[in-house]
Amino acid sequence: MRNTILVTGGAGFIGANFVLDWIREVGTPLVNLDKLSYAGNRESLAPLAGDARHIFVQGDIGDGALIANLLATHQPRAVVNFAAESHVDRSIHGPRDFIQTNIVGTFEMLESVRAYWNALDGDAKAAFRFLHVSTDEVYGSLKKGDPAFAETKRYEPNSPYSASKAASDHLVRAYHHTYGLPVLTTNCSNNYGPLQFPEKLIPLMIVNGLAGRALPIYGDGMQIRDWLYVGDHCSAIRRVLEAGAVGEVYNVGGWNEKPNIEIVHTICDMLDQIRPKPDGTSYRSQITTVTDRPGHDRRYAIDAGKIERELGWRPTETFDTGIRKTVAWFLDNQEWIANVQSGAYREWVEKNYADRSA
Ligand code: NAD
Ligand code: TYD
Repeated sequence: MRNTILVTGGAGFIGANFVLDWIREVGTPLVNLDKLSYAGNRESLAPLAGDARHIFVQGDIGDGALIANLLATHQPRAVVNFAAESHVDRSIHGPRDFIQTNIVGTFEMLESVRAYWNALDGDAKAAFRFLHVSTDEVYGSLKKGDPAFAETKRYEPNSPYSASKAASDHLVRAYHHTYGLPVLTTNCSNNYGPLQFPEKLIPLMIVNGLAGRALPIYGDGMQIRDWLYVGDHCSAIRRVLEAGAVGEVYNVGGWNEKPNIEIVHTICDMLDQIRPKPDGTSYRSQITTVTDRPGHDRRYAIDAGKIERELGWRPTETFDTGIRKTVAWFLDNQEWIANVQSGAYREWVEKNYADRSA
């Protein structure tokens, strides 16, 4: 029986968590294709060193010949597509890579996967799945009191990042409708947890807090996101892969809307308890207000009722338990933090925050 799955972007934040969880929870072979962009980190996969079930391949999802070759060689029963450019602020500074990877790259994956799937026979063809990992940001911004995003919500992406993810979602949908490709799409809210690159809100605040640097809040800090612990996102993807109905979209969320400032206060208070500063001041004193992000979406909220009703999935972590695990992980993994803060990382921080002074 075909057992292998092909995962793309498995050296990034969510992908690496998914790969580690997969080997632990499912234990069947997995081919991990990742370009190792600035966001990809092989060190995150160190626990799998020497494990024959994990086959790492460095390469680009836009390389159709490579994808075709991997599919022919490993004959996967499923593809899970995480690979993407994922940071909104970077998409504002330079959208081109987002178009290339998120749209053109997904298109190339779909083309190679379609050819592979068409050539499969009987049971293998019926069992095959292409699961596309997407975001709630494709739905646009909510006002206070608006209902949370359901799967039927109109797409209204507002950033180059969310527009490129929306385009990829549309391509995935079209490949099902037109060619019958057995696709599944998940649209998830903001993730946090171990291995997240410290350009995103939560790891940036932990890392900057510990280093005594400023904690930059965009605008009034009252923008709302729904936050989901990464392990719960990984379990949702496994569940959709196992039991999702072909062609369907599943929203994934944590039932956990919070304004940014509250998130930052929680992190500061937790650090005050676990790692009090020698001078007795609170980490809150490092908070600074900086110029807002252009086109900043005000509120995201996910209605995760469909995946609960139809597939019985619910998150297991509360924000309190998840953020405790996350802060503890960053405190215990100072070497990982030091290694990802390369010259390229420092250049990004300079570019993003230099023209945002309070
Ligand atoms: P990330 O930026 O941490 O990791 C992306 C990974 O993809 C990196 O390892 C990178 O090297 C790889 N990659 C980039 N371009 C590639 C290419 N052309 N070919 C092969 N590999 C390439 O991203 P993440 O936060 O782990 O997000 C993973 C996926 O989940 C993305 O599709 C993102 O849109 C989606 N998502 C993220 C969140 C979130 O909160 N982080 C929420 C919902 C959905
Ligand atoms: P981010 O982690 O970049 O995720 P996204 O923009 O995809 O939701 O940002 C989460 C929220 O935190 C978002 O409203 C922007 C805000 N933010 C800050 O206030 N300061 C920062 O330094 C960063 C990176 C984000």
